[in-house]
Amino acid sequence: MMLEGLALADIAARFGTPVYVYSRAALIAAFEAYRRASGGRQASVCYAVKANSNLGVLSAFAALGAGFDIVSGGELARVLAAGGRADRVVFSGTGKSRDEMRQALLAGIRCFNVESAGELERLDELAAVLGVIAPIALRVNPDVDPQTHPYISTGLKHNKFGVASDDALALYRRAAALPHLRIRGIACHIGSQLLNAAPAVEAAGKLLVLVDLLAAEGIHLEHIDLGGGLGIRYRDETPPAVAAYLAPLLALFEGRPEELCFEPGRSLVGNAGLLLTRIEYLKPGEGKHFAIVDAAMNDLIRPALYDGWHGVVPVLARTGPPRRYDVVGPICESGDFLARDRDMAVEEGDLLALLSAGAYGMSMSSNYNSRPRAAELIVDGDEVHLVRERETLESLYALERPLPLG
Ligand code: LLP
Repeated sequence: MMLEGLALADIAARFGTPVYVYSRAALIAAFEAYRRASGGRQASVCYAVKANSNLGVLSAFAALGAGFDIVSGGELARVLAAGGRADRVVFSGTGKSRDEMRQALLAGIRCFNVESAGELERLDELAAVLGVIAPIALRVNPDVDPQTHPYISTGLKHNKFGVASDDALALYRRAAALPHLRIRGIACHIGSQLLNAAPAVEAAGKLLVLVDLLAAEGIHLEHIDLGGGLGIRYRDETPPAVAAYLAPLLALFEGRPEELCFEPGRSLVGNAGLLLTRIEYLKPGEGKHFAIVDAAMNDLIRPALYDGWHGVVPVLARTGPPRRYDVVGPICESGDFLARDRDMAVEEGDLLALLSAGAYGMSMSSNYNSRPRAAELIVDGDEVHLVRERETLESLYALERPLPLG
């Protein structure tokens, strides 16, 4: 089994397991698909850093001229360290701290996607102190059902995100009156792993009504940020292709002067990466067999957290009758499974590739059970770049201190 020009078995022998492996060509192809689909229109693609915030991944997108959607000061620092441009950064998130706002104001980001009245006031105050003008958009909660997992739905009115459409006009008026803010745009993001464009189009339609109401009051917007959310195929889902997803959105804004922004995460990186793991033990159980591997829920939490399904492919195809396995990790929880009921012909020591793991894999990993985090690699043709070293045991507690004795 190969990734670009390299055999996964060779990668595992050289770098050990568990290890995340990404394809640079796949990252580029996914980004270019957005660019191509936006056609001649003024549109910017701001990669949602949370999906995979490795500097190697960020630098690959920065080199293509990407913008970035961030949700923390940590993500801003990463973007800048990877060579991304601050003036292409939009800052989303419901709980921006004073320190994070200051950091972003000083860096000179493109826009704050403001999610509450309190945030608007705080941002104006801080901008005044720093003697700068804060560029803002309001993130509007359009109250549409994205038809996805409840944990990753964000655009319903009971969700914590954004400001209610009904409050948006009043807040824009307030923003226009605050001396240290400059209104740049409007934003929304309704959820993730969307498998059809209709909810996004419905949300965009609601945004457009607001844009026109604002224009009638003399508040003219430069950009409309439609968020991220396009889903990918993990198993048998049939998400629209990027072009098909964007087409009705672009059509809706045809002929309008505002720039469109998109904040895709998963659809840029999800299928560009896999998690390579080795089988430690094959354990027969009552009516079930377990393939106990060296990756675990701390490396990839999506199965445990969202019932996420990831393809599992043995790196070496064996002949012989398959058996049904749960693929589980070494962590002391029954929730520590990576895949269930998979038919495979495997032996102890074999390698497995967990597919579609490029998004929300490493970025959601932890050190639970004091497990060092996996290494990360980017394959580029027949070259491989180690873009994150495997954590050492010492690094796990480097910031901790035992209590003094006595
Ligand atoms: N913009 C905003 C404001 C967001 O909150 C998100 C994702 C995105 C863009 C990118 O969405 P995407 O294109 O990746 O769907 N951990 C979950 C997904 C959480 C998504 C959170 N927000 C998972 O593993 O499925």
